[in-house]
Amino acid sequence: MKEINRRDFIKAALVFGASLAVGFPARSSRVQWKERRDLYPHGVASGDPDPNSVILWTRRPFAQGTRELLTVEVAEDEGFRRVVAQAQAPVSGASDWTARVLVGGLEPARRYWYRFTDKDGNGSRIGRTMTAPLTNDARTVNFAFVSCQDINEGKLNGFRRMIYEDERAPSDQQLDFVLHLGDFIYEVMQYPEDMKTRFDRTIYEVARFTEDSQKIGNFHIPLTLNGYRAVYKGYLADPDLQDARARWPFVCIWDNHEFSWQGWQSIVKAASFEQPGQKIKVAANQAWFEFIPARVAAPSGSLERFDPPAVENVPVKEFDNDGLGVEPNNLTAINSLKAYRALRYGRNLDLIITDQHSYRSADPFSDPSLGQLGGEEFTAMFPEQLMQVLEGGRAYNGGNPPAEIRFNDAHVPNPQRTAPPQTLLGAEQKKWFKDKLKSSTAVWKVWGNSLGTLESRADPQNLPADLTKESWPRDLFANLGGGDFGNAWMERAEIYNLVRDEKITGFAIVSGDKHSFWAGYASAELPPGKFDPIGLSFVGASLISIGTMEAQEHRLPKDAPLRALFLADRNGDAKPDWTFNMLLRHGVRACLEYAKSFDLERARALSNPDLAPHLAFLDLGGHGYAKVRLSADEMSTEFVCIPRPITRSETPDGGPIRYRVVHTARLWKSGERPQLRTSVLEGDVGLSI
Ligand SMILES: [Fe+2]
Repeated sequence: MKEINRRDFIKAALVFGASLAVGFPARSSRVQWKERRDLYPHGVASGDPDPNSVILWTRRPFAQGTRELLTVEVAEDEGFRRVVAQAQAPVSGASDWTARVLVGGLEPARRYWYRFTDKDGNGSRIGRTMTAPLTNDARTVNFAFVSCQDINEGKLNGFRRMIYEDERAPSDQQLDFVLHLGDFIYEVMQYPEDMKTRFDRTIYEVARFTEDSQKIGNFHIPLTLNGYRAVYKGYLADPDLQDARARWPFVCIWDNHEFSWQGWQSIVKAASFEQPGQKIKVAANQAWFEFIPARVAAPSGSLERFDPPAVENVPVKEFDNDGLGVEPNNLTAINSLKAYRALRYGRNLDLIITDQHSYRSADPFSDPSLGQLGGEEFTAMFPEQLMQVLEGGRAYNGGNPPAEIRFNDAHVPNPQRTAPPQTLLGAEQKKWFKDKLKSSTAVWKVWGNSLGTLESRADPQNLPADLTKESWPRDLFANLGGGDFGNAWMERAEIYNLVRDEKITGFAIVSGDKHSFWAGYASAELPPGKFDPIGLSFVGASLISIGTMEAQEHRLPKDAPLRALFLADRNGDAKPDWTFNMLLRHGVRACLEYAKSFDLERARALSNPDLAPHLAFLDLGGHGYAKVRLSADEMSTEFVCIPRPITRSETPDGGPIRYRVVHTARLWKSGERPQLRTSVLEGDVGLSI
């Protein structure tokens, strides 16, 4: 067994060009280690464990020279009396003094401690990590999923709380790893002198760009490798993030902000600013590779350094049938780091992780002509059916898309009539993803997907006639989403139909990006189509980043005709109730009743059953993290919701929690419908159910 492990490890090490550290019989440390956290200002981390190896990370900058060697040790105990692996870990200016080491020969499902030491005995802090269980190991898997940690605008009380609870949890309920679903950094950097506050938040100093950058409004965006590196270093200076990375292995996938706010493929886009960004995409990939330890292959073929391919920023004008820009620099840039990958955790989990931004097609919903259709008074609502026409492009209606898009009497030519149907995954990644799903033998197949998959729907067709000047078209639901799988209907159906047709059970999606908590069902269609759930879908709230409700509280005018659909104002100084949660779950009639009577029962009695059979829970104002527990017959997903993390908690528990709610589903058989049970364990969930 040991020999096979070793051979597999060396094979894996070759793929990643790893610095090898192969396990040996335990013995006491022979390294003179003296902790000097100041010399390792960004802490330590571990990533992507498998049953006998894990990648370890640190950063040790040196003022002189170009390359140095650190020693990394891995032990079975925190005191390093039972050291089982040791290796040299090179650091160099070429990688901004970051080190990545793949350590192999470890035992499955075991806890280890690790540390780095330089040649003068200056040591990093001690990190803790865990290997994955063997494929046939039936033990329960526990992991957390998190996203969106904009430390320009708040503090990581969520990580503090997660650490506090994990330290006190029984051993078999402690987290095996943290899945970070992106927006690990926000490249849109704010400087406090430009704006002291935003909504409820204080703007904190994080990083400065000293090279080429662009200012858009109050956001500064990096255009160089050193710019992205400065952002990672600013984030990793945070003590709570350092403590979290030192406690658990992280499994990471980027969302949009690791490259560009509204960017796609290699194009940089931020509000009105748009430019070809092949060099910038490569820079973003390099910085991610340097600061996030992951089993991804750099162009160098080595874990030590990235070696960026040479590209030029040239316009991307030609797209193939899958919406992929065929311009050679674009292809080189987006393929310079493939982050989509799968990790296996024992018998119970196949974690399949995809990249939603590097291969996605052009946004089908942004053609300026659509502004001529009117409907502004309906605040972010757009007819669902028209969005389906736009996203389906030339493939809509079996290849017969309508020539025009209409909203009441207004009409414009269909701007997507000849465009390829929208893809978020791109053809190559999608094929890989589908193959992984089909071949998985784990009980639970969890899709780690940075973007949410649950529709944001409303039913403005049920509004009373006197509330708006124009009336909403009869029988048309509204969609309030933007740019995720909640309106990538065709591609999502392709995936869900595969799950159904291949009789795959235990399919669940975990995602981020939406800065809100959601629990529900994966169904390709909603009424008036056939509601046919084939799996579960969850969205975890932001750790920090501002969510919709905070923005609405500040932005929505008191006299907006449809205000009651988003906020219900109580008498006096009390904060408004978040009827927006109710709008997406129960519809306009429930919201209007609630804003009048504040009677939850009466409001829910007016729920529209056709609106959201896919939703069990949503909180557009929540922050915090989610914990998943997977056993042979059950998945439970716990949302731990904290108050707005505006300032750093003074207490070791990370401060109070708003609520804790758990969604549980028994494993279903093929053809059966998954069924969620939601239980509020503590606190007040407001209008979320
Ligand atoms: Fe985000």
